[in-house]
Amino acid sequence: MQNKRVAIVTGAARGIGLAIARRLHDDGCAVALADVDIERARSEAASIGEGAMPLDLDVTDPDACERGVAEVIGRFGSLDVLVNNAGIGGNAHSVDGYSVDMWRRVMAINLDGVFHCCRAVLPHMLERGTGWIVNVASIAGKEGNPNMCAYSASKAGVIGFTKSLGKEVAQKGVIVNCITPAVIETEILMQLNQQAVDYMVSRIPMGRTGKPEEVAAMVSWLSSPECSFTTGGVFDISGGRATY
Ligand code: NAI
Repeated sequence: MQNKRVAIVTGAARGIGLAIARRLHDDGCAVALADVDIERARSEAASIGEGAMPLDLDVTDPDACERGVAEVIGRFGSLDVLVNNAGIGGNAHSVDGYSVDMWRRVMAINLDGVFHCCRAVLPHMLERGTGWIVNVASIAGKEGNPNMCAYSASKAGVIGFTKSLGKEVAQKGVIVNCITPAVIETEILMQLNQQAVDYMVSRIPMGRTGKPEEVAAMVSWLSSPECSFTTGGVFDISGGRATY
Protein backbone atom coordinates (compact mmCIF):
# COMPACT_ATOMS: atom_id res chain seq x y z
CA MET A 1 0.00 0.00 0.00
CA GLN A 2 2.96 2.33 0.70
CA ASN A 3 3.84 2.77 -2.99
CA LYS A 4 0.32 3.43 -4.18
CA ARG A 5 -0.56 7.02 -5.02
CA VAL A 6 -3.06 8.34 -2.52
CA ALA A 7 -5.91 10.75 -3.24
CA ILE A 8 -8.58 12.62 -1.30
CA VAL A 9 -11.70 13.61 -3.23
CA THR A 10 -14.13 15.91 -1.41
CA GLY A 11 -17.85 15.66 -2.09
CA ALA A 12 -17.24 12.12 -3.32
CA ALA A 13 -20.45 10.49 -2.10
CA ARG A 14 -22.21 11.16 -5.41
CA GLY A 15 -22.07 12.93 -8.75
CA ILE A 16 -18.83 14.26 -10.18
CA GLY A 17 -16.83 13.52 -7.01
CA LEU A 18 -17.87 9.88 -7.01
CA ALA A 19 -16.96 9.51 -10.69
CA ILE A 20 -13.55 11.07 -9.94
CA ALA A 21 -12.99 8.76 -6.96
CA ARG A 22 -13.85 5.71 -9.08
CA ARG A 23 -11.60 6.88 -11.91
CA LEU A 24 -8.61 7.59 -9.64
CA HIS A 25 -9.08 4.17 -8.06
CA ASP A 26 -9.13 2.60 -11.54
CA ASP A 27 -5.92 4.56 -12.22
CA GLY A 28 -4.33 2.74 -9.29
CA CYS A 29 -4.76 5.26 -6.48
CA ALA A 30 -5.87 4.57 -2.95
CA VAL A 31 -8.71 7.02 -2.48
CA ALA A 32 -10.55 8.68 0.41
CA LEU A 33 -14.17 9.60 -0.32
CA ALA A 34 -14.66 12.71 1.83
CA ASP A 35 -18.19 13.94 2.34
CA VAL A 36 -20.67 15.24 4.91
CA ASP A 37 -22.98 12.45 3.74
CA ILE A 38 -20.91 9.79 5.44
CA GLU A 39 -23.48 7.02 5.03
CA ARG A 40 -23.39 7.32 1.28
CA ALA A 41 -19.60 7.82 1.23
CA ARG A 42 -19.30 4.61 3.26
CA SER A 43 -21.44 2.54 0.92
CA GLU A 44 -19.75 3.94 -2.21
CA ALA A 45 -16.29 3.30 -0.74
CA ALA A 46 -17.37 -0.27 0.03
CA SER A 47 -18.59 -0.75 -3.52
CA ILE A 48 -15.28 0.54 -4.93
CA GLY A 49 -13.49 -1.98 -2.72
CA GLU A 50 -9.98 -2.32 -1.33
CA GLY A 51 -7.99 0.89 -1.33
CA ALA A 52 -11.07 3.09 -0.89
CA MET A 53 -12.02 4.64 2.46
CA PRO A 54 -14.89 6.89 3.52
CA LEU A 55 -13.94 10.12 5.29
CA ASP A 56 -16.46 12.03 7.38
CA LEU A 57 -15.56 15.61 6.45
CA ASP A 58 -17.26 18.98 6.37
CA VAL A 59 -15.01 21.22 4.28
CA THR A 60 -16.32 24.34 6.01
CA ASP A 61 -14.51 23.25 9.20
CA PRO A 62 -10.75 23.96 8.97
CA ASP A 63 -9.88 21.77 11.97
CA ALA A 64 -11.85 18.87 10.53
CA CYS A 65 -9.91 19.25 7.28
CA GLU A 66 -6.61 18.96 9.14
CA ARG A 67 -7.87 15.92 11.08
CA GLY A 68 -9.18 14.33 7.90
CA VAL A 69 -5.89 14.74 6.07
CA ALA A 70 -4.01 13.26 9.05
CA GLU A 71 -6.42 10.31 9.09
CA VAL A 72 -5.83 9.56 5.42
CA ILE A 73 -2.05 9.84 5.76
CA GLY A 74 -2.26 7.61 8.85
CA ARG A 75 -4.19 4.99 6.90
CA PHE A 76 -2.35 5.03 3.56
CA GLY A 77 1.07 6.43 4.52
CA SER A 78 1.15 9.57 2.36
CA LEU A 79 -0.96 11.86 0.21
CA ASP A 80 -0.34 12.70 -3.45
CA VAL A 81 -3.60 14.12 -4.77
CA LEU A 82 -6.33 16.43 -3.48
CA VAL A 83 -9.44 17.01 -5.56
CA ASN A 84 -11.52 19.86 -4.15
CA ASN A 85 -14.91 18.95 -5.57
CA ALA A 86 -17.42 19.52 -2.73
CA GLY A 87 -19.85 22.25 -3.67
CA ILE A 88 -23.44 23.39 -3.68
CA GLY A 89 -25.41 25.41 -6.18
CA GLY A 90 -27.35 27.54 -3.74
CA ASN A 91 -30.75 28.57 -5.01
CA ALA A 92 -31.45 30.47 -8.21
CA HIS A 93 -32.61 34.00 -7.30
CA SER A 94 -31.92 37.57 -8.31
CA VAL A 95 -29.42 39.53 -6.18
CA ASP A 96 -32.18 41.71 -4.73
CA GLY A 97 -33.68 39.47 -2.12
CA TYR A 98 -30.95 36.81 -2.34
CA SER A 99 -30.72 35.21 1.09
CA VAL A 100 -27.69 36.42 3.07
CA ASP A 101 -27.49 33.05 4.81
CA MET A 102 -27.45 31.24 1.47
CA TRP A 103 -24.71 33.57 0.16
CA ARG A 104 -22.57 32.76 3.20
CA ARG A 105 -23.28 29.03 2.95
CA VAL A 106 -22.31 28.88 -0.74
CA MET A 107 -19.09 30.79 -0.04
CA ALA A 108 -18.29 28.65 3.01
CA ILE A 109 -18.51 25.38 1.08
CA ASN A 110 -17.45 26.33 -2.45
CA LEU A 111 -14.64 28.78 -1.66
CA ASP A 112 -13.61 28.57 2.00
CA GLY A 113 -13.70 24.78 1.72
CA VAL A 114 -11.12 24.80 -1.08
CA PHE A 115 -8.85 27.04 1.01
CA HIS A 116 -9.26 24.86 4.13
CA CYS A 117 -8.41 21.63 2.31
CA CYS A 118 -5.43 23.10 0.44
CA ARG A 119 -4.13 24.59 3.67
CA ALA A 120 -4.41 21.19 5.34
CA VAL A 121 -2.60 19.18 2.63
CA LEU A 122 0.15 21.65 1.70
CA PRO A 123 2.55 21.06 4.62
CA HIS A 124 2.68 17.37 3.72
CA MET A 125 2.99 17.94 -0.03
CA LEU A 126 5.62 20.66 0.36
CA GLU A 127 7.67 18.52 2.71
CA ARG A 128 7.67 15.68 0.17
CA GLY A 129 8.16 18.10 -2.72
CA THR A 130 5.35 16.51 -4.72
CA GLY A 131 1.58 16.71 -5.06
CA TRP A 132 -1.32 17.46 -7.38
CA ILE A 133 -4.31 19.62 -6.48
CA VAL A 134 -7.34 19.88 -8.76
CA ASN A 135 -10.09 22.36 -7.87
CA VAL A 136 -13.55 21.96 -9.38
CA ALA A 137 -14.67 25.48 -10.33
CA SER A 138 -17.37 26.08 -12.96
CA ILE A 139 -18.09 27.86 -16.22
CA ALA A 140 -20.23 30.11 -13.99
CA GLY A 141 -17.00 31.42 -12.46
CA LYS A 142 -15.76 32.51 -15.89
CA GLU A 143 -18.95 33.88 -17.40
CA GLY A 144 -21.34 34.49 -14.49
CA ASN A 145 -24.74 32.82 -14.71
CA PRO A 146 -27.67 35.19 -14.09
CA ASN A 147 -29.56 34.55 -10.84
CA MET A 148 -26.64 32.51 -9.51
CA CYS A 149 -24.65 35.32 -7.92
CA ALA A 150 -23.19 33.43 -4.97
CA TYR A 151 -22.33 30.36 -7.01
CA SER A 152 -20.74 32.39 -9.83
CA ALA A 153 -18.75 34.53 -7.37
CA SER A 154 -17.58 31.53 -5.36
CA LYS A 155 -16.36 29.73 -8.49
CA ALA A 156 -14.61 32.86 -9.78
CA GLY A 157 -12.91 32.86 -6.39
CA VAL A 158 -11.79 29.27 -6.89
CA ILE A 159 -10.26 30.22 -10.26
CA GLY A 160 -8.36 33.14 -8.71
CA PHE A 161 -7.24 31.02 -5.77
CA THR A 162 -5.97 28.31 -8.14
CA LYS A 163 -3.93 30.81 -10.16
CA SER A 164 -2.44 32.29 -7.01
CA LEU A 165 -1.54 28.99 -5.35
CA GLY A 166 -0.25 27.50 -8.62
CA LYS A 167 2.32 30.29 -8.90
CA GLU A 168 3.10 30.23 -5.18
CA VAL A 169 4.21 26.59 -5.20
CA ALA A 170 5.38 26.33 -8.82
CA GLN A 171 8.97 25.63 -7.84
CA LYS A 172 8.11 23.34 -4.97
CA GLY A 173 6.85 20.28 -6.81
CA VAL A 174 3.14 20.88 -6.19
CA ILE A 175 0.93 21.22 -9.26
CA VAL A 176 -2.37 23.13 -8.89
CA ASN A 177 -5.06 23.43 -11.56
CA CYS A 178 -8.80 23.91 -11.78
CA ILE A 179 -11.51 22.84 -14.18
CA THR A 180 -14.58 24.74 -15.32
CA PRO A 181 -17.40 22.35 -16.26
CA ALA A 182 -20.66 23.48 -17.84
CA VAL A 183 -23.83 21.57 -16.93
CA ILE A 184 -23.07 18.02 -15.82
CA GLU A 185 -25.89 15.58 -15.16
CA THR A 186 -25.91 15.18 -11.34
CA GLU A 187 -28.18 15.71 -8.35
CA ILE A 188 -26.90 19.29 -7.92
CA LEU A 189 -29.24 20.32 -10.73
CA MET A 190 -32.17 19.52 -8.43
CA GLN A 191 -31.18 22.61 -6.40
CA LEU A 192 -31.98 24.82 -9.40
CA ASN A 193 -35.24 25.51 -11.20
CA GLN A 194 -35.82 24.19 -14.72
CA GLN A 195 -35.47 27.68 -16.19
CA ALA A 196 -31.91 28.00 -14.85
CA VAL A 197 -30.95 24.53 -16.14
CA ASP A 198 -32.51 25.21 -19.57
CA TYR A 199 -30.57 28.49 -19.79
CA MET A 200 -27.29 26.74 -19.08
CA VAL A 201 -27.90 23.90 -21.57
CA SER A 202 -28.97 26.39 -24.25
CA ARG A 203 -25.51 27.99 -24.04
CA ILE A 204 -23.69 24.72 -24.81
CA PRO A 205 -22.81 24.32 -28.53
CA MET A 206 -22.87 20.52 -28.24
CA GLY A 207 -26.48 20.90 -27.08
CA ARG A 208 -26.26 18.39 -24.27
CA THR A 209 -25.25 18.02 -20.66
CA GLY A 210 -21.90 16.48 -19.74
CA LYS A 211 -21.38 13.23 -17.88
CA PRO A 212 -19.52 12.93 -14.57
CA GLU A 213 -17.21 10.36 -16.19
CA GLU A 214 -16.13 12.91 -18.81
CA VAL A 215 -15.10 15.28 -16.02
CA ALA A 216 -13.32 12.46 -14.21
CA ALA A 217 -11.24 11.72 -17.32
CA MET A 218 -9.90 15.28 -17.31
CA VAL A 219 -9.17 15.18 -13.59
CA SER A 220 -7.37 11.86 -14.05
CA TRP A 221 -4.69 13.49 -16.19
CA LEU A 222 -4.52 16.69 -14.12
CA SER A 223 -3.79 14.64 -11.00
CA SER A 224 -1.27 12.27 -12.60
CA PRO A 225 2.53 12.47 -12.83
CA GLU A 226 2.05 13.09 -16.58
CA CYS A 227 0.76 16.53 -15.63
CA SER A 228 4.21 17.93 -14.94
CA PHE A 229 4.55 21.27 -16.80
CA THR A 230 1.06 22.70 -16.30
CA THR A 231 0.08 24.64 -13.21
CA GLY A 232 -2.23 27.48 -12.22
CA GLY A 233 -4.34 26.53 -15.24
CA VAL A 234 -8.07 26.68 -15.88
CA PHE A 235 -9.34 23.75 -17.96
CA ASP A 236 -12.53 24.04 -19.93
CA ILE A 237 -14.98 21.14 -20.08
CA SER A 238 -18.12 22.78 -21.39
CA GLY A 239 -19.14 21.19 -24.69
CA GLY A 240 -17.73 24.21 -26.48
CA ARG A 241 -19.39 26.92 -24.37
CA ALA A 242 -16.07 28.48 -23.39
CA THR A 243 -13.37 28.49 -26.00
CA TYR A 244 -10.96 30.45 -23.84
P1 NAI B 1 -23.70 16.90 -6.11
O1 NAI B 1 -24.71 17.71 -5.39
O2 NAI B 1 -24.16 15.73 -6.94
O3 NAI B 1 -22.60 16.36 -5.09
C1 NAI B 1 -21.93 17.25 -4.20
C2 NAI B 1 -21.39 16.46 -3.02
O4 NAI B 1 -20.76 17.41 -2.14
C3 NAI B 1 -22.48 15.77 -2.21
O5 NAI B 1 -22.15 14.41 -1.99
C4 NAI B 1 -22.53 16.56 -0.90
O6 NAI B 1 -22.91 15.78 0.22
C5 NAI B 1 -21.09 17.06 -0.81
N1 NAI B 1 -20.97 18.21 0.09
C6 NAI B 1 -21.81 19.28 0.19
N2 NAI B 1 -21.40 20.08 1.17
C7 NAI B 1 -20.27 19.54 1.68
C8 NAI B 1 -19.39 19.93 2.72
N3 NAI B 1 -19.59 21.02 3.46
N4 NAI B 1 -18.30 19.13 2.98
C9 NAI B 1 -18.10 17.99 2.27
N5 NAI B 1 -18.92 17.58 1.29
C10 NAI B 1 -19.99 18.34 0.99
O7 NAI B 1 -22.85 17.92 -7.01
P2 NAI B 1 -22.02 17.71 -8.37
O8 NAI B 1 -22.86 18.13 -9.50
O9 NAI B 1 -21.40 16.38 -8.37
O10 NAI B 1 -20.92 18.85 -8.19
C11 NAI B 1 -19.61 18.60 -7.76
C12 NAI B 1 -18.80 19.86 -7.98
O11 NAI B 1 -18.82 20.20 -9.37
C13 NAI B 1 -19.33 21.08 -7.23
O12 NAI B 1 -18.26 21.85 -6.75
C14 NAI B 1 -20.09 21.83 -8.32
O13 NAI B 1 -20.19 23.19 -8.05
C15 NAI B 1 -19.20 21.54 -9.51
N6 NAI B 1 -19.87 21.74 -10.80
C16 NAI B 1 -21.00 21.02 -11.10
C17 NAI B 1 -21.63 21.22 -12.29
C18 NAI B 1 -22.87 20.48 -12.65
O14 NAI B 1 -23.55 20.90 -13.61
N7 NAI B 1 -23.23 19.40 -11.98
C19 NAI B 1 -21.11 22.19 -13.28
C20 NAI B 1 -19.92 22.88 -12.85
C21 NAI B 1 -19.33 22.65 -11.66
